[in-house]
Amino acid sequence: MKNKVISGDSLSILRTVKNETFDLVITSPPYFQQRNYGNGNSGIGNEKTEEEYLENLMNIFRECVRVTNEKGALVFNIGDKYINGGLSLIPYKFAIRAVEDKKVFLINQLTWSKLNPTPRQEKRKLIQATEPFFIFAKSKNYYFDLDSYLTHLDNFNKNIRNKPSDKLGKKYFELINSSDLTEEQKINACKSLNEAVSAVHNGEIDSFRMKINGIHKLAYGGQDGGRNNQIKNNGFTVIKILGNRMKKDIIESPVEITRDNHHPAVYPIYIIQELIKLLSKADDFVLDPFCGSGTTCIAAKNLRRNYLGIEINSEYVDLANERIKNTGFIQELFI
Ligand SMILES: C[S@@+](CC[C@H](N)C(=O)[O-])C[C@H]1O[C@@H](n2cnc3c(N)ncnc32)[C@H](O)[C@@H]1O
Repeated sequence: MKNKVISGDSLSILRTVKNETFDLVITSPPYFQQRNYGNGNSGIGNEKTEEEYLENLMNIFRECVRVTNEKGALVFNIGDKYINGGLSLIPYKFAIRAVEDKKVFLINQLTWSKLNPTPRQEKRKLIQATEPFFIFAKSKNYYFDLDSYLTHLDNFNKNIRNKPSDKLGKKYFELINSSDLTEEQKINACKSLNEAVSAVHNGEIDSFRMKINGIHKLAYGGQDGGRNNQIKNNGFTVIKILGNRMKKDIIESPVEITRDNHHPAVYPIYIIQELIKLLSKADDFVLDPFCGSGTTCIAAKNLRRNYLGIEINSEYVDLANERIKNTGFIQELFI
């Protein structure tokens, strides 16, 4: 079953698969009444009502949860659409149902910010330029390799930043020495300050700020939060500033341009590769139950993971197989 695209209905095929077979599920189901994938009434997406659509989608989602192992994650990308002039909120209705089953929890809603969204004529609405990727996990023990995610951010920062000044930290050393901290607190404060200065010089952080008891004010409102407690108990706190290397729940990428004889709703391979790096390791097994043109499978193959694609439309199965056959190893497609 490994490294194949199977033709058929996901629900029927997944029902034949053993529990906990996959390490990761990444997919984009057909959105509600958005497109015709040439499946007549057999695929999902063309149901008459939103309720029917959500029920069909949840049936497949529950099977995906069953076949994912305890350390695994499930990523579902669903876009919203306007119905009678208002957003339907269907992606969020799906996410609420998904967590209500209590078999998964939502670890992030990653927002895809489209760099080239479709311009619309509508003059009384902003252009819709985002879509959610819901990232669910089955247990608190989920696999998550943050260091392998968006690594170009780390390199980018290291390469472009200005050399820090030799005077970095000098002002704080003076403040520590003139403060009312105990001798022990002063020694600890200088040690932490030295570590922060080295971290800036090594490019691990962009900069830092320090707060010293008696010199700097506690956080607004004076509530006892983590930092206020550190200042009260240790006499100081160091706030590290990560700058652009912060790995946030937003990812930018252009929309894939669709060519003739191609699939009409291809998602960006760049995002899928980053998610595979974040949520799986080499040789893991990745499932896409709505495989379309095979983007997930190509990304998995590029990153030395095993994959299974399921697609109801046999023309797309052929297209996916053709694309997978022609793929080579592509580390970074978009930087
Ligand atoms: C949004 S597209 C996926 C596109 C894909 N992410 C890509 O990059 O090419 C959804 C796909 O799900 C397929 N599909 C719909 N219902 C299905 C079902 N019950 N089982 C398997 N595939 C189905 C459609 O034919 C369509 O190709």
